[in-house]
Amino acid sequence: MKGLILSGGHGTRLRPITYSQQKQLIPVANKPILFYCIEDLINAGIHDIAIIVGPNKEQVMETVRAVEWDARISFIFQDAPRGLAHAVKISRDFVGDDNFIMYLGDNLLKGGSADFIRDFSDSKVDASLLLTEVEDPRQYGVALVDEQKKIIVKLVEKPKNPQSNLSIVGIYGLTPRIFEAIDHIKPSWRGELEITDALHWLIENGCNVRYGMVQGWWKDTGKTEDILDANRLILDTIENENNGSVQSATITGKVKIGKNSVIREGSAINGPAIIGNDCIVSASTIGPYTSIGDSSEIHSTSISNSIVMEGARIDRIHQITDSLIGKNVILKKDDASHERKTFVLGDSSQVML
Ligand code: TTP
Repeated sequence: MKGLILSGGHGTRLRPITYSQQKQLIPVANKPILFYCIEDLINAGIHDIAIIVGPNKEQVMETVRAVEWDARISFIFQDAPRGLAHAVKISRDFVGDDNFIMYLGDNLLKGGSADFIRDFSDSKVDASLLLTEVEDPRQYGVALVDEQKKIIVKLVEKPKNPQSNLSIVGIYGLTPRIFEAIDHIKPSWRGELEITDALHWLIENGCNVRYGMVQGWWKDTGKTEDILDANRLILDTIENENNGSVQSATITGKVKIGKNSVIREGSAINGPAIIGNDCIVSASTIGPYTSIGDSSEIHSTSISNSIVMEGARIDRIHQITDSLIGKNVILKKDDASHERKTFVLGDSSQVML
């Protein structure tokens, strides 16, 4: 069994962050989302993994190569985001005659996918999809199932009148039969080769397409709120760990503090929260549900339910909440001054002072 992780795409719903960073590298609890996917596949016993890379390929390759993985990891370049089925199509040489798991590199699963992958590899089916119940199926690819036979009878992309509340999650068990299906489909109205069309072709042509249900939570991190939700869910699982120095500051709840970080007097860290390496926090309140990236400095500021990426300088901002703050951001407020203030901010940035 091989693994194919999709880490291309433009991530338009996460601009401006994704103008300079590939979505799958956004840190959740100080670890790139993509790393959770790689770890999940390795934990499930998959040690031959290819990663689809697109717009920021160098960034993705460099970040992945900086870590020693218990797997052979190769990269496949996709010239433009031409659809999930296109990503599979260009992976034909990598897949060969093997079965494989396609894993969307912006998806997080609490329970991991090991059980689903085991069931798929023990079965003789043509494809198997992981499903979860959702509140509003109209936003998702939805599956109609035959519960007795555990098979999928129909797939509908974003149905106006959903006949099921079972959404397709971004982890797919596939066999080389999918290539035959992809050869028979045409790009959709949005110009992409859709994996749901290919799967639908399999069902229509008498193939056995099964399903498994997600255990625990699943998060597709397409938008800011989803990334913050994922951050909260992961932070809920951390344990206390202090590798820095806490100078008569208050620490409550589960808190992780990285190497060489200093939490100065007058600060409070309210867990769950994580502070990376080489950070300085002074006269500030951090948390709950906050991740601070490496080499950041936070002074006289209060931050909750947020992700601050590495290299931030934040000074005297009364209350930051529900925020996604990119790398090396400088955010300052000079209370004593009534002078005109100047900001240099990327497209679509949101500053609420
Ligand atoms: P999407 O979330 O559908 O697309 P996107 O990441 O470009 O985001 P947006 O809609 O905000 O522009 O993609 C799902 C996953 O698949 C994501 O990890 C990106 C990846 N992907 C590819 O690698 N190649 C592709 O051609 C497409 C469409 C997506």
